[in-house]
Amino acid sequence: MSGRDSPGPSGRESQGNRRPKLSTQAPVGVPLTRRASQVLETIRVSLTNLFSRLALHPDQSASKVIPDLSFDGFLSHWKSNGFKKIVTMVGAGISTSAGIPDFRTPGSGLYDNLQKYNLPHPTDIFELDYFIENPKPFYALAKELYPGNFRPTPVHYFIRLLNEKNLLVRHYTQNIDSLERLAGLPEEKMVEAHGTFHTNHCLECGLEFSKEWMKEKIFSDTIPLCDACNGIVKPDIVFFGEGMPDKFYDMPAEDFKNCDLLIVMGTSLEVYPFASLVGHAEPNCLRVLINRTSIDKFGSPTNKRDINFIGDCDDAVWKMAEALGWSDELKALIKKEGSKFEKPKVRTSDNKHNDDKKPKTSREVPQSNQIEKKS
Ligand code: OAD
Repeated sequence: MSGRDSPGPSGRESQGNRRPKLSTQAPVGVPLTRRASQVLETIRVSLTNLFSRLALHPDQSASKVIPDLSFDGFLSHWKSNGFKKIVTMVGAGISTSAGIPDFRTPGSGLYDNLQKYNLPHPTDIFELDYFIENPKPFYALAKELYPGNFRPTPVHYFIRLLNEKNLLVRHYTQNIDSLERLAGLPEEKMVEAHGTFHTNHCLECGLEFSKEWMKEKIFSDTIPLCDACNGIVKPDIVFFGEGMPDKFYDMPAEDFKNCDLLIVMGTSLEVYPFASLVGHAEPNCLRVLINRTSIDKFGSPTNKRDINFIGDCDDAVWKMAEALGWSDELKALIKKEGSKFEKPKVRTSDNKHNDDKKPKTSREVPQSNQIEKKS
């Protein structure tokens, strides 16, 4: 990322003004304001953990939260003891099996594949200052990755299942692909920490525009300009240099209180303040990382509550479902919901003639694209 700090969008600045803005871990040369907010957040979380270890949970510093901190040990503990309050935290890795690239996997990640946009630096595509100067690359990418073209994965449905079993306290996502919504997770159960494409605002006057209005602009390759003041209109996804939605700051204190399991999936935990959420888990809360690559923050040899599953997150949720006896339920849910995404039959000039002679049954009448309807 460029390391520039920006004043943020004028129309929505007040809500995030005193709060840390979205950024990656501070590289050398980042302005003090951004670096300072990250350092302060890290100190705050470390002190909170230290105090709670010393004062509130004296026993937890001495023993492991569960006896066997392997993934199998975690599964057998879940099966025999259960968990009551689960928080999930996810990133782009949970959507790669849907065909959406993540950001940082070398080679396939989005940031290795943006050459055609001639950006000074790949992350500039999500940098507010850059966007204001040149919004074209972002809108070209938005057209390519627009929510509605992809289906949820087993991970998304597993999270929905957790909710249906009244185990999910909250789902924190960095993703802007809307696949959680498409999988049927209720909005109130989610914190879409990096925003969504569902609402849009003018960066100058703050006027709101609908999702349909924005979609029409994106798909007609038109830079969306405000009807009132001609300023640039931007989807409410959070760019580097912007504040996070209020929910992100308001929910964690309550959500993590007595939370006994935190599942972190498909994220490099490179981006703050999202990554700092893992520090909200109390010392007796088990933290499970499910990711293709290991992350330093998790699973030190002396840790008491971290579990690593280094591998594919779809595989991990199938293993969890199997251990808990939920496999059939998960399969049935995926099948039932998957049928909503079946494409209408494509009518070619070859088959049109014959088709026109046949009486139409309800199954043959092309359905409207239900992905669009739900999103
Ligand atoms: P990253 O690309 O940084 O990390 C994705 C992680 O998921 C990587 O560690 C991969 O190894 C892992 N992964 C990929 N596919 C997987 C799979 N099938 N199973 C398990 N693990 C898999 O993406 P995020 O952590 O989401 O922000 O990135 C955070 C933020 O950085 C994004 O929200 C975005 C980006 O800049 C903005 O654009 C504002």
